Amino acid sequence: MDKRTPTAINGNFKNKDIISLDQFSPKDLSFLFKVTKKMKAIAVNAKPSDILKGNIVTLVFYEPSSRTFGSFAGAVKQLGGQTIEIQDPQHFSSVSKGETLEDTIRVFEAYCDAIVIRHPVVGTVKQAADAAFFVPIINAGDGIGEHPTQALLDMYTIYEKFGKLDHLTGVMAGDLLNGRTVHSLMRGLSLYKNTTLYLLSPKELQLSREELQDCTKRGLKLIEITSEKDIPKNADFWYWTRVQKERFKAMEAYEKVKNKFVVTEKLVTERAGENTIIMHPLPRVGEIETTVDQDPRAVYLRSQIRNGMYVRMALLALVLGKI
Ligand code: NCD
Repeated sequence: MDKRTPTAINGNFKNKDIISLDQFSPKDLSFLFKVTKKMKAIAVNAKPSDILKGNIVTLVFYEPSSRTFGSFAGAVKQLGGQTIEIQDPQHFSSVSKGETLEDTIRVFEAYCDAIVIRHPVVGTVKQAADAAFFVPIINAGDGIGEHPTQALLDMYTIYEKFGKLDHLTGVMAGDLLNGRTVHSLMRGLSLYKNTTLYLLSPKELQLSREELQDCTKRGLKLIEITSEKDIPKNADFWYWTRVQKERFKAMEAYEKVKNKFVVTEKLVTERAGENTIIMHPLPRVGEIETTVDQDPRAVYLRSQIRNGMYVRMALLALVLGKI
């Protein structure tokens, strides 16, 4: 099989690298979500599945991960496939001996049918995709760039709740500058009409002006706010994020901005609507008080976390041409 460059899905997921939300159209997403619903039924009903029987998926994570790594591993196993799992390749693979990314990818593609990769440097997953000759590469987060599979599960969570992805109002809060989940989610939401996003962040962590302009050009209505008091009562979702400590050079700068905006029970009572869902890609490090967890509108430890595995089951089945 010849290697393709990451291109638009355009109705055909088979063998495509998944690098950016830009590859998807609303039609592709709606198909993916249909398959996700079926995958959810397989997982929830503990129905044994052999959709990925005989397939091996390699997970290579150059950065720490709990949810993305765990849910990809779980997704493969739910569908009867197997994994090669390498966390911290800098220490536990020949990367520690100086092997290049390109060689590492070409070695592992000899052993498996797809490679899921997370890397601290923007653009490296694309570089890995260009290096691979035979197998599709899936971006599990590249530095402050993108985290497409997180955005897919976030969008599925919103879609499951509201039955649509257009005409929505959301609040994106926290580290909008460095949060790759934010960058992918905004690209995804920009595919739908009449989306308004309120952007709440410390000044230092505002969405980059370039990204702001780009998303506006794509049709998102973006409103930057500086206080929780400006959160509209009618928001459909709040998407809170962690200040990305690992992207800071100076810890004093991090300490200054961390937890500037915190979701408290009081804030939820005052500013959330009856149907507002409260989302977070996790991990949280203080920016949502644990007392909020009991609120049924808080989906971050409920549907949002579970949907991660279902969406990844669907994506792998499609990319490996099993559906
Ligand atoms: C996110 C990530 O790694 O970008 N985590 C995740 O995959 N759910 C968010 C974060 O680390 O803040």
